[in-house]
Amino acid sequence: MPFYKDHVYPHLVAILGNPKPVQTIRQQLVPLAHGRVLEIGVGPGVNFVHYDPEKVSKVYALEPNPGMMPRAERQGRRTQLDIEFLDLPGERIPLADASVDTVVSTFTLCTIPGVVEAIRGIGRVVKPGGQFLFFEHGLAPDARVQRWQKRTEPLFKWAFEGCHVTRDITSLIKAGGFKIEQMGAAYLAPFPKSGSYLYWGVARPKV
Ligand SMILES: C[S@@+](CC[C@H](N)C(=O)[O-])C[C@H]1O[C@@H](n2cnc3c(N)ncnc32)[C@H](O)[C@@H]1O
Repeated sequence: MPFYKDHVYPHLVAILGNPKPVQTIRQQLVPLAHGRVLEIGVGPGVNFVHYDPEKVSKVYALEPNPGMMPRAERQGRRTQLDIEFLDLPGERIPLADASVDTVVSTFTLCTIPGVVEAIRGIGRVVKPGGQFLFFEHGLAPDARVQRWQKRTEPLFKWAFEGCHVTRDITSLIKAGGFKIEQMGAAYLAPFPKSGSYLYWGVARPKV
């Protein structure tokens, strides 16, 4: 469905993806980025304004959906950042090994089809001692909510281009070769609980 994917979905992500509680966490997390940064699945570029241009020398902004580009470019122009867009999927990061200091992913690990492969790729490009800043939604801790998540997952996948609500984000990050150093988790956004159990924090490559 190219029209949906290129026009409707980018609009939905832009209007639903940044309610106040989500924005508050973005404001706390994204300024931790420093050095050369890779952001995976930048979508409409809502994180760009939260990077500290004094600390960030470059942002590689990876986004495979060209329908997101006009919004992302507009957001980029609001900043002083040196942004280079990469139009490949997160499973094929076109950067050298150990070439970035920070990787950022917000609400993208839910959607990437080859999520384990993508997290391993993040581990490949991040320098030893570098950081992975994540802010994602996923599997809730309560059995009742999990049942709803399983029931409603097909709807989320259909409406949001393959978005999964049952991914166990912390297990995936650990399985991809990271240890989680700091993390918060809560039902945050003003959406049904099945889609609003959020995890955010800092992970580092295991040594
Ligand atoms: C829910 S949006 C999140 C956008 C943005 N990161 C945010 O925080 O609002 C998910 C994004 O992941 C992108 N995406 C989908 N498949 C992807 C893949 N294989 N690799 C990287 N990004 C992907 C989508 O195009 C979309 O921009």
